[in-house]
Amino acid sequence: MGKGKLEKFREMETFANVFQYPFSVVDEAPFAMKGKWHEQYFKNNHPIVLELGCGKGEYTVELAKRYPEMNFIGVDIKGARMWTGAKQALESQLTNVAFLRTNIEIIDRFFAQDEVSELWLTFSDPQMKNPHKRLSSTFFMEKYRHFLKDGGVVHLKTDSNFLHTYTEAMVKTNNLPLLFTTTDLYHTKGLDAETQKILAIQTYYEAMWMERGLNIRYLKFQLLHAISLHEPDIEIPLDEYRSYHRPKRSSLKTSK
Ligand SMILES: C[S@@+](CC[C@H](N)C(=O)[O-])C[C@H]1O[C@@H](n2cnc3c(N)ncnc32)[C@H](O)[C@@H]1O
Repeated sequence: MGKGKLEKFREMETFANVFQYPFSVVDEAPFAMKGKWHEQYFKNNHPIVLELGCGKGEYTVELAKRYPEMNFIGVDIKGARMWTGAKQALESQLTNVAFLRTNIEIIDRFFAQDEVSELWLTFSDPQMKNPHKRLSSTFFMEKYRHFLKDGGVVHLKTDSNFLHTYTEAMVKTNNLPLLFTTTDLYHTKGLDAETQKILAIQTYYEAMWMERGLNIRYLKFQLLHAISLHEPDIEIPLDEYRSYHRPKRSSLKTSK
């Protein structure tokens, strides 16, 4: 039988690769390692990549195995999910991995200017009714710009037509360089072998959506510092399948 949540929480307290700073904790005392992840934790100067909303941290762990010359940090508020990735990283003796349990709303309290090189958003909740909770909204881009290098790449892998369409519109509205986009990743031709391997890493949520027969969508773009960001003004059809088996709270068919 698998471990229960409480047991995972207790075990995580002992993990050297996990930092637990939910809002209530970091509000009391500033995070001392801000700006010092290289020096104090990774003990190298390699680029740092974040997986935001990492869940079990499949991208964090798999990318760390493939790229020992880079550092990876999985960020999520849910400890029981994070336990899986943190445990795997410890068992595989990966020294280029950390996990940060916190609210992404306050992510800029953990990293200093230019400390991070790249971001992954893996199967984020599209938050169709609330752009302020949507991890690819300009609200979050403003926060990411505090610590992501100028021109740093943001990857978005998703099942959601809503989130993919919204993010493309956000990129276009703000003239951000769009490096690649597809609405059907696994039937896209012309990707080089290394990119294909990276994009074939499957997360827990991805497997679930694929079993339901959904396309996997992907895009990557560069986030720039020296522009003012604006929310796109576009009505996007809601993902119908997300209200499957749930009572409908509104009759709206589109949202911004
Ligand atoms: C749909 S799950 C995807 C998990 C994983 N990336 C996957 O593909 O299996 C979204 C994850 O994002 C996390 N998340 C969403 N918004 C968050 C926020 N504001 N702060 C911290 N974690 C957040 C949730 O806790 C959840 O684990």
